[in-house]
Amino acid sequence: MAAESHNWILMATARTPTNIAVIKYWGKRDENLILPINDSISITLDPDHLSATTTVAVSPSFEKDRMWLNGKEIPLSGGRYQNCLRELRSRAGDFEDEKRGIQIKKEGWNKLHFHIASYNNFPTAAGLASSAAGFACLVFSLAKLMNVKEELGQLSAIARQGSGSACRSLYGGFVKWTMGNEMSGRDSKAVQLANETHWEDLIIIVAVVSSRQKETSSTSGMRESVETSSLIQHRAKVVVPSRILQMEEAIRNRNFSSFARLTCADSNQFHAVCLDTSPPIFYMNDTSHRIINLVERWNRHEETLQVAYTFDAGPNAVLIAPNRKVASSLLQRLLFYFPPGPDYELNSYVLGDKTILQEAGIESLNHIEALKPPPEAKDKVPSQRFAGDVSYFICTRSGKGPEILMEEEHALISSQTGLPK
Ligand code: DP6
Repeated sequence: MAAESHNWILMATARTPTNIAVIKYWGKRDENLILPINDSISITLDPDHLSATTTVAVSPSFEKDRMWLNGKEIPLSGGRYQNCLRELRSRAGDFEDEKRGIQIKKEGWNKLHFHIASYNNFPTAAGLASSAAGFACLVFSLAKLMNVKEELGQLSAIARQGSGSACRSLYGGFVKWTMGNEMSGRDSKAVQLANETHWEDLIIIVAVVSSRQKETSSTSGMRESVETSSLIQHRAKVVVPSRILQMEEAIRNRNFSSFARLTCADSNQFHAVCLDTSPPIFYMNDTSHRIINLVERWNRHEETLQVAYTFDAGPNAVLIAPNRKVASSLLQRLLFYFPPGPDYELNSYVLGDKTILQEAGIESLNHIEALKPPPEAKDKVPSQRFAGDVSYFICTRSGKGPEILMEEEHALISSQTGLPK
């Protein structure tokens, strides 16, 4: 029946992780296609702690494309979304569900509109690469819905056109984004260096740093760097190519001290490029600098690298420890210097894998209160503590890539109304 055939709603839901770069992407050679000036390498974070879930729905009854992020409708006018959609449409396949009387021909996708609902399991405003997980998830779920038969690598090249760093979220474990050299951007895509089981001992602690300041977006920040920084050219042409090789080797051999040295150096150089931009861009704040000092002092005291740090386009610190033992010593130090502000609860101050907290022997706020300064603290100067300067910590690890969630209960859109549940 003709009337009935307009009532169907087809949906797909996926969950996609965030990633943190250990060799940074900063600077484009093509703004529209989002082609970078250097390769980059990232670790995919455990989706149980940091991921986006997206449901995409299509129906002949939808009048326009609409999107809801964490329950709030947001405009979909952006060129980046349109670019991803155009790429997917050109690769869409036929779809048929005889039982429900649904048939969509390849060309038919051009006339249909989408409803998209996305949800981050971590605070969006925290500046934790939410656009990376978001665009990766959008592309992954739409590819499923539209029956796009492409390898993950090609999907990553589509996600790249949503947000550069998104291409690295198509794989779990350790991922390289090869800059490529084709004009079309086809070869500017992600490749997996090792999966999430390769280096399972690594523990990652994210310190979400309190900040009142609105930061320069990565997109405009890197544009200004490319236009005004002379350091960025040297970085892209000389420094990064050799670091990429060394980082690949460090990951392959699970060589933590090499991995940590490169990670810290690359984060610091990225922020140096930001300072070398005119006008200079400051992403890190006093709390970020204190965290760097804490790690550097500890590393020097132990005479081997205990922990690596890295910072993206914001003040949050991502700290990487070689194993649980070191991670719990790190957490003790972090909680000593950055105890929660008044009215916090321990349960909402340390999120994610809470077993690290137990291993650090911290079961209550009183335990944090009673922490002693670490041995490397200068003994003559009384250690200052900075309550409230960190909003919360997330303990996590390297995790798997995107997955399709089949069960109806995971869908964020109602199959009856086509609107967010
Ligand atoms: C500092 O991927 O957010 O996090 O491609 O313009 O969307 P656009 O930028 P985006 O930049 C990320 C920059 C970074 C480093 C990194 O993730 O490699």
